[in-house]
Amino acid sequence: MTILSPVLPLRSGALIPQIGLGTWPMDDDEAARAVDAAVSLGYRHFDTAENYRNEKGVGEGLRRSGLDREQAFITTKFNKEWHSFDGVRRAADAALQRLGTDYIDLLLIHWPNPGLNRYVDAFRGMRVLQDEGLVRAVGVSNFKPAHLQQLADAGLVPEVNQVQLDPYRPRLGVRETHSRLGIVTEAWSPLGPGSGLLTDPRITALAEKYGKTPAQIVLRWDVQSGLVAIPKSVHPQRLAENLDVVDFVLDASDLQTLDGMETDAPVSDSDVFGH
Ligand SMILES: NC(=O)c1ccc[n+]([C@@H]2O[C@H](COP(=O)([O-])OP(=O)(O)OC[C@H]3O[C@@H](n4cnc5c(N)ncnc54)[C@H](OP(=O)(O)O)[C@@H]3O)[C@@H](O)[C@H]2O)c1
Repeated sequence: MTILSPVLPLRSGALIPQIGLGTWPMDDDEAARAVDAAVSLGYRHFDTAENYRNEKGVGEGLRRSGLDREQAFITTKFNKEWHSFDGVRRAADAALQRLGTDYIDLLLIHWPNPGLNRYVDAFRGMRVLQDEGLVRAVGVSNFKPAHLQQLADAGLVPEVNQVQLDPYRPRLGVRETHSRLGIVTEAWSPLGPGSGLLTDPRITALAEKYGKTPAQIVLRWDVQSGLVAIPKSVHPQRLAENLDVVDFVLDASDLQTLDGMETDAPVSDSDVFGH
């Protein structure tokens, strides 16, 4: 059975599927297999990055699947060495070469690297690539409100900010900035790997109530909260399960339960870490 994810509109007019496939830490072979399998299940959104070293595999999986290019939504991201007005063109050209395609649906600055202080120049360069049609939508990843504000002060607003987000780390501060500026929030590590989220009794109780798995409860919360999520799996059963979150609705009190699960679980600090 093919299931299609609901989509959200981006400011440029592109439609981003709310459930996509994360591909880190797959290698090229794993990514090609997973992407090919995911397409047949109904996935249309694929998240990769220069840093994952698997863009070739993602492109190969898409070609193997036979999916029409216009039906796929490909996100990729670039590293700090390309943080300049001209550097982003070289980053995009190299990514297109590796992916084997002629445009990128969503190009992201992977980490702000505020110590370099060059993301404003980089983003200006990305807008030129967008005007030329090489890139359909432009965004950032791991940006804090202060980084977003610096872009906004230069008249630049990303369409998407991809951040670490799950019910233990709902990231309310950065989401508030997103709402104010019209930025779509995308959740990386949406299943909170390593945190015990999927065995939390509040989640397992909801899984039992709705006849779904814990991962499906969390991903349904993402969808109903207006977020994009990119769960990664290399297992066919889990790939299928993670996309299959369209045939049930969490009621208001259960959404409230999930909204109330914030802990002090750490979030990668993008003022310190980045590549
Ligand atoms: N922008 C950034 O800086 C950044 C950083 C990190 C990640 N990302 C992106 O976000 C994607 C997702 O993040 P992530 O891979 O760290 O975390 P995740 O997708 O939340 O969790 C992945 C882990 O959960 C397991 N899993 C997947 N589906 C499951 C299910 N239905 N039930 C139980 N376990 C399940 C996977 O194992 P199996 O594969 O064995 O199923 C894997 O161990 C990455 O792949 C990458 O594309 C972006």
